Amino acid sequence: MDRVLVFDTTLRDGEQSPGASMTAAEKLRMAQQLEALGVDVLEAGFPASSPADFASVREIARAVRQPAIAALARASAGDIDRAAIALESAARGRLHVFIATSDIHLTHKLRIEREECIDRAVAAVRRARRYTDDVEFSAEDATRTDVAFLARVVEAVIEAGARTVNLPDTVGYAYPAEIRRMLATLFGRVPGIRDVVVSVHCHDDLGLAVANSLAGIEAGARQVECTVNGIGERAGNAALEEIVMALRTRRDSLPFETGVRTTEIYRTSHLLSHITGIHPQPNKAIVGRNAFAHEAGIHQDGVLKEATTYEIMTPESVGVGCTSFVLGKHSGRHALAERYRTLGYELDGEELGRACALFKDLADRKKNILDEDLLAILVHGCMDRVPARFRLRELEVACGTSTAVARVTVESAGALRTGTAEGDGPLAAAFAAIDALADDFRIELHELSIQAITPGGDAVGEASLQAVIDGKSFTGRAAAPDVVNASVRAYLDALNKAAHARTLETEALERASYVWGV
Ligand code: KIV
Ligand code: ZN
Repeated sequence: MDRVLVFDTTLRDGEQSPGASMTAAEKLRMAQQLEALGVDVLEAGFPASSPADFASVREIARAVRQPAIAALARASAGDIDRAAIALESAARGRLHVFIATSDIHLTHKLRIEREECIDRAVAAVRRARRYTDDVEFSAEDATRTDVAFLARVVEAVIEAGARTVNLPDTVGYAYPAEIRRMLATLFGRVPGIRDVVVSVHCHDDLGLAVANSLAGIEAGARQVECTVNGIGERAGNAALEEIVMALRTRRDSLPFETGVRTTEIYRTSHLLSHITGIHPQPNKAIVGRNAFAHEAGIHQDGVLKEATTYEIMTPESVGVGCTSFVLGKHSGRHALAERYRTLGYELDGEELGRACALFKDLADRKKNILDEDLLAILVHGCMDRVPARFRLRELEVACGTSTAVARVTVESAGALRTGTAEGDGPLAAAFAAIDALADDFRIELHELSIQAITPGGDAVGEASLQAVIDGKSFTGRAAAPDVVNASVRAYLDALNKAAHARTLETEALERASYVWGV
């Protein structure tokens, strides 16, 4: 009773954040880190939403054995069957079925009556139970649902076999007191509710997601659904690290434990930021750059005399400050493999070979290689996002005060292609040169951000961008000590994703014409 289960939905609800889409390789790497973090349930995706999501859930279910792997499904037979197939090889698979229960959703979105909603919920849970005992039911928009009706739905799905009942604040509308009241009413009215795990899933539209999740725990919830860095739809979900550290730091007030290894928090947050290009704001609780920085003289003086004067938790407890100077120019392959192992990454021969080459390249330009550099090398250099149709071979940029000229050479299908162009600045010129050499694609750059991702004057810069290519949106990311180089490679990363999508579409069309004999 004093254990709260942590259900991580970074790879499902979190991935619904604008610009946070991840490739299958990125999701797998993230899933392995979530396993190291110690989450109890890892929601890997929504298999019926796309073939790519299906494949990625399947891959994670095969490779990640410690947490239960959840797959989301609407309350429909097709969705549930698809999710069950994706979970076939999971050590412990959880089917997570949902249907909206509020009148707003029933009337305007689903266009069904309340009775039909109950019938569909019950049928969905029963169908899911054919595959596994571990069935979770979510009443979407629970906090805006008439509580008497919600109690009927919850009672019906428990009778049908749901083992976990989740009550989402889907639009981030509730106050903590309302969450407590909703749960108190359900605990008072629904027979059998004490035999299942009650869960809360709070969105952050009013900045209350974590407070609401904690209110849920106070009122009897024993599962919280959350995401790393609080990423997610609109304003995001409740931040995993904030809930976990609030419980740990304030055990005096909320005496509950989680299975999370808190020293893995910072590394997990960092990996997600590198993969998505979405970095937490500097003052973000627990994982922001300034979360443990004391600026005011009085504070610094206090902390030096006695850390607890201004520090309610130590940076080390969340894995901050464990970064150190690690390797240099003369470090070898063995030392590199060893350091990655310490950081929690077991690289295979090919990955290590690539990491080594990038490490040597970086060590030629940067004296001290930090853990952050190694993480950047891993995420940006060793994980195959998609096959590289365009690989950067040479980049030359000359700039004056008002114009720049760029010459970009890429390798494509075994041949070298060069584009030259002018622009207002070095980036505009380099992007125009790529447009010239890849003129069978229509590329519109929508957003570009560049960040220093390691400390110091010789920091590595990370470029993240969003582009619309042939009418579809793609993200591109890359890191390098030189920001023009990083931006050009991020541009090529987006272009490679578009080229890959084009290949997949052509293959699908060819398969369809073969099937139909066209
Ligand atoms: O916010 C929500 O209601 C959800 C459900 C699908 C669980 O994400
Ligand atoms: Zn949600």
